[in-house]
Amino acid sequence: MPNIVIVGTQWGDEGKGKIVDLLTEKADMVVRFQGGNNAGHTLVVGGNQFIFHLIPSGILYENTKCLIGNGVVVDPEVLLDEIDDLNRSGLKVDSDRLSLSDKAHVIMPYHKAIDMAREVAKGSSKIGTTGRGIGPCYEDKAARIGIRVIDLTDPKILEKKIRNNLKEKNFYLTRFLNAEPLDWRPMLEKYLQMADKLYPYISDVSLELDQALKEDKIILFEGAQGTHLDVDHGTYPFVTSSITVAGNASAGSGTGPGSLGHILGIVKAYTTRVGAGPFVTELTDEVGDYIQEKGNEFGATTGRRRRCGWLDLVVVSDSCRINGLNSLAITKLDVLTGLDSLKICVGYRLDNEEVNHRPASLTQLSRCTPVYMEIPGWHEDISGVNSMDHLPSNARVYLEAIEDITGIPISMISVGPGREQTVIVRDPYES
Ligand code: GDP
Ligand code: IMO
Ligand code: MG
Repeated sequence: MPNIVIVGTQWGDEGKGKIVDLLTEKADMVVRFQGGNNAGHTLVVGGNQFIFHLIPSGILYENTKCLIGNGVVVDPEVLLDEIDDLNRSGLKVDSDRLSLSDKAHVIMPYHKAIDMAREVAKGSSKIGTTGRGIGPCYEDKAARIGIRVIDLTDPKILEKKIRNNLKEKNFYLTRFLNAEPLDWRPMLEKYLQMADKLYPYISDVSLELDQALKEDKIILFEGAQGTHLDVDHGTYPFVTSSITVAGNASAGSGTGPGSLGHILGIVKAYTTRVGAGPFVTELTDEVGDYIQEKGNEFGATTGRRRRCGWLDLVVVSDSCRINGLNSLAITKLDVLTGLDSLKICVGYRLDNEEVNHRPASLTQLSRCTPVYMEIPGWHEDISGVNSMDHLPSNARVYLEAIEDITGIPISMISVGPGREQTVIVRDPYES
């Protein structure tokens, strides 16, 4: 059985968490390889809802090991809260069940302060970040002044790094962003206390994965965000600061690319986006409101209302290419039930020409208008359907159009948030 990489093909919130949870049944390990607690992955199991920001979505299975790879940026406070919450709900989390890479970078209070103050300073041109300090933490990593998980284990190094960094950060915060300066001493004390609690989880994740691969164990790589939020391939600068595409499952976890196996792209049956940035198929009418309400499209991290629009296959086809997708999982198909007619964007019209790829230039993108194909809708309740044959014929036409236009087969269809509300067309572990 191959390993599986799960990536979002749109702008995040495609339902990655649900699919990771479902596929974890056959996995020995689940590893996060990028992003941080800007992610919000929601699982509904036995009627109970769990939202994870940092802990991999496989944690509900007792015999599966979850790992946080080197490519992730970690807010220790959020991680400890998630561990506490799980322990309180009776799921014992210890170092046998969770590992944290010693090379992952740590989100510091100044990262959050800079993220938030910058957004205020940008005013109407803000990115609409989650305010979790993600961008500033990755900036420090690239600038080679970041604090890594391993630094938490050495109080002298940690103090030196915090004091040095604060000289620069406080100058920037107070003189450029008109924000308050931060004090190193309470910061150091708090991080040392958290370090004690995190100590048992710190590990060389790359070595752990290598050992598992030698034992033919099955690894699931859990992506966060989506391909069009990728810092290179997304709608820059309205993106996150990490590499969200499948190739980074390798670099962000410390495994060779040959180990990645099946690349599964998660496609929400329509499009959503939180935060600012271009959105060609956005619906600002009552159909958009219908999808937003029926799909309960509120951000799992910030609670913001998600912008909604028709399925954009220009966006998804770009993701098929960039990630090298082997199959697609279509989620939230049930949300489209009840609409008389559905639209799928199959191309963009740009200055009287039709294009099939998203242009890099945002000014060109802002001139793009969608070219739609129209498909009649269905009214039957599909939330209990568990085989392709039981879907209404118009729903099947909708799915066939996705396969035809992207050229990628559908392996799974999700018709509700619950684990059991899933149609397996072909098992991604078997292909
Ligand atoms: P992620 O960030 O990609 O893991 O996605 P989120 O968890 O942020 O957002 C997806 C939301 O849709 C969550 O609230 C899920 O419980 C829910 N969800 C997932 N799949 C389905 C589905 O097929 N139908 C419906 N109605 N909800 C779903
Ligand atoms: P999951 O894993 C949807 C968006 C933010 C903002 C931009 C930059 O749940 O799919 P950041 O805080 O990362 O600097 O914000 O990226 N964003 C997400 N949108 N789902 C996510 O994660 C997101 N993580 C970041 O809204 O537009
Ligand atoms: Mg989410």
